[in-house]
Amino acid sequence: MAEIGNDTRRLIEMVKVISKYKVTQGISPEKFCDMLKELGPTYVKLGQLLSMHPEVIPMEYCRKLESLRTDASRLVTAQIRDIISEEYGRPWTSVFSRIMPFPLGAASIAQVHEAILLDGTRVAVKIQRPDIYATMERDVRLLKKALGIVKIKNINDVVDLSDTIEEMWKVAQEEMDFVREAENIRTLRRNCEGIEYVYCPKVYEELSTKNVLVMEYIGGFELNDLDAMEAEGYDRNEVCTKFINNFIKQFAEDRFFHADPHPGNVRVWNGRIVWLDMGMMGHLSKEDAELVKACMRAIVSNDYVTFADSVLNICDHDPNIDMPAFYERMKQYLGKYRIISMEEMSSTVDIFADLYRISRDFRIVVPTTYTMFWRSMSIMEGTVTELSPETDLTAIIGKHLAAQNMVGGIAGAITKSVSHRRLISGKPLSYKGHEQEPDEDIEEE
Ligand SMILES: Nc1ncnc2c1ncn2[C@@H]1O[C@H](COP(=O)(O)OP(=O)(O)O)[C@@H](O)[C@H]1O
Ligand SMILES: [Mg+2]
Repeated sequence: MAEIGNDTRRLIEMVKVISKYKVTQGISPEKFCDMLKELGPTYVKLGQLLSMHPEVIPMEYCRKLESLRTDASRLVTAQIRDIISEEYGRPWTSVFSRIMPFPLGAASIAQVHEAILLDGTRVAVKIQRPDIYATMERDVRLLKKALGIVKIKNINDVVDLSDTIEEMWKVAQEEMDFVREAENIRTLRRNCEGIEYVYCPKVYEELSTKNVLVMEYIGGFELNDLDAMEAEGYDRNEVCTKFINNFIKQFAEDRFFHADPHPGNVRVWNGRIVWLDMGMMGHLSKEDAELVKACMRAIVSNDYVTFADSVLNICDHDPNIDMPAFYERMKQYLGKYRIISMEEMSSTVDIFADLYRISRDFRIVVPTTYTMFWRSMSIMEGTVTELSPETDLTAIIGKHLAAQNMVGGIAGAITKSVSHRRLISGKPLSYKGHEQEPDEDIEEE
């Protein structure tokens, strides 16, 4: 009975917020994001996840939602201590000598604090908000109920909105499991081994649970802190290029990539780029990775037939799809991005966005893993544009394509044979007091 009362109260609250934003009188991406923030952490999280569904909402919304961040209320020190003690089943003082009161970060799901172990080791502790699972579970349940009542279940013939919500909820649940996140960190850490300019924090397994994650403390500064970067004598272009190289390695080689490479999740420390926040990682199957490569390869060689066929191979589609019209559209699409050299290639974001428009028109369903890749790529592109606008992302992608023997006969440097190994390896970042010899020229014949 009490629960029904709570449900009703929350439902009224939700309706109030939604009517305040007058959604029926038109809505913009900005207004939509403001509304989600006001609806609370569940909606902020769902909003971020919704940005992976360009089949559901227009591309402008996806772009805006990617950067949706919360101004979450802060857990106070006493709460943090209680959560930790309860989670460990013993007092927090039996593990930590200190937990710093001011959080390093606070978002919808968790809060991160610096702490000191009894032996003096400095660590970072990620603590899950105690009520977040129950809050999200209730909000998602109410949202589905509300959508059932107003009957906008299917936005178009292709998408069932309740399926989308169900899927987002599944992803959110995974993010709330820190045991999984610890596993992700371990995997990424393994994949970074042997590359001197990237790093991943160590996880303290024995101190980590579903709701508490203890990691090595990472100092340094955020990737987009240009003042700190300059003060410490880093070269922005080098940092940026190595960041891109490592990201490309993640999706092209490991097929396990950081799904949210925004600057807040990447630090620069002791000559290395350090990845943080592995709550959500993307996986590409061999087939998905092939689609990505086919897409890039087809764009540079203008082979629209192979490209169109590979898209249909991977995506669900109506067997009676109008093939001549689809081929024609793909021909126009690739014609638009016809390039003379890699340097002239358009933004990858535009290229993918356009592709989604076509899939929508032809009712082709792009697998979520692939959409996650697109989203992650576009976040990465935003990050590098901010960091070092003069670094040419597409030229770097071109080098990787060439190194993997994926294209031939394209004008310019990328036709030269490049060892892919050398492209992804390299020395630590150069900085004040730690100057490195330049990396060997990777564009050798
Ligand atoms: N191991 C760490 N060392 C130092 N700071 C960290 C560490 N892990 C996280 N942080 C800080 O806490 C912030 C939030 O952590 P993050 O894992 O990104 O959580 P969220 O999933 O809430 O974004 C990061 O942006 C970073 O500033
Ligand atoms: Mg983060």
